[in-house]
Amino acid sequence: MAASLIGGLVAAGHPAASIRVSEPDAERAAALKARFGLTIAADNVDAVTGADLVVLATKPQQVANAIRGLQLAADATLISICAGVRIASLRALVANGGWTGAIVRAMPNTPALFGVGITGLYASETASPRARMQAETVLAAAGKVCWVDTESLMDAVTAVSGSGPAYFFLLTEAMAEAGVALGLTPADAKALALQTFIGAAKMAEGTGTDVATLRAQVTSKGGTTQAALESLEAAGFRRILDEALRAADIRSAQLGDELAATL
Ligand SMILES: NC(=O)c1ccc[n+]([C@@H]2O[C@H](COP(=O)([O-])OP(=O)(O)OC[C@H]3O[C@@H](n4cnc5c(N)ncnc54)[C@H](OP(=O)(O)O)[C@@H]3O)[C@@H](O)[C@H]2O)c1
Repeated sequence: MAASLIGGLVAAGHPAASIRVSEPDAERAAALKARFGLTIAADNVDAVTGADLVVLATKPQQVANAIRGLQLAADATLISICAGVRIASLRALVANGGWTGAIVRAMPNTPALFGVGITGLYASETASPRARMQAETVLAAAGKVCWVDTESLMDAVTAVSGSGPAYFFLLTEAMAEAGVALGLTPADAKALALQTFIGAAKMAEGTGTDVATLRAQVTSKGGTTQAALESLEAAGFRRILDEALRAADIRSAQLGDELAATL
């Protein structure tokens, strides 16, 4: 995810020389340097020293190890893309306990790799308009951004768009499998399913029409689409999705609790 953000920033014209990366794996660090021409820091202390913007992009379970005791500049902004990790935990982990700099939580998603992701953002109360702008600049490199007003909504963002690409992949897999069951070759079924979703997404974006209206427009009374949609509704499609997102929302909150409990 960090490499996607770096790639997006560099592609947007941000000077790579001003980006300093701390990456424990020497091979990966060398690859990043070769690919982007950025600076590799000796360690995390070196990475944040003098930095006006620090992006934390480790797994949630690695956060404490990565930032405990770091001295951030008084006016630095800390952006965390780590699922579930709360602002209070991040603040407690940085060394200068009185540090009141801005913290922005960001939840991007993997289409960021192609610059077509969407990121949910939440800023701490101390975040200035400048800090918000810094966060938007970094995350806009990954696609669109969407600010939320309360921190707990970051769990909902994680459930909808952070984990969302996987729901789409599952839906595509399942639709292709159903096509094979109806006699199509696996290759044809996969191509038909995937391109249908890509086309439908482009149509929804391009027309700007509400998706419920688009759905109604392609559902002729008594036709094939109506038969399929009625079957989905009868099987509890919306309830299944609702339960799945609730599970992701709960897991995101748990990740935050797990880290907070160790502080
Ligand atoms: N992937 C997604 O779809 C997605 C979407 C939204 C948000 N996120 C969030 O993004 C974060 C990163 O996810 P990812 O999939 O990019 O994980 P990842 O590929 O494992 O990247 C984490 C990076 O952090 C490095 N790291 C580990 N410990 C460190 C330390 N103490 N100091 C400095 N660097 C350290 C790792 O190095 P090593 O490999 O050498 O350990 C690795 O390069 C997660 O918190 C996740 O919740 C991910």
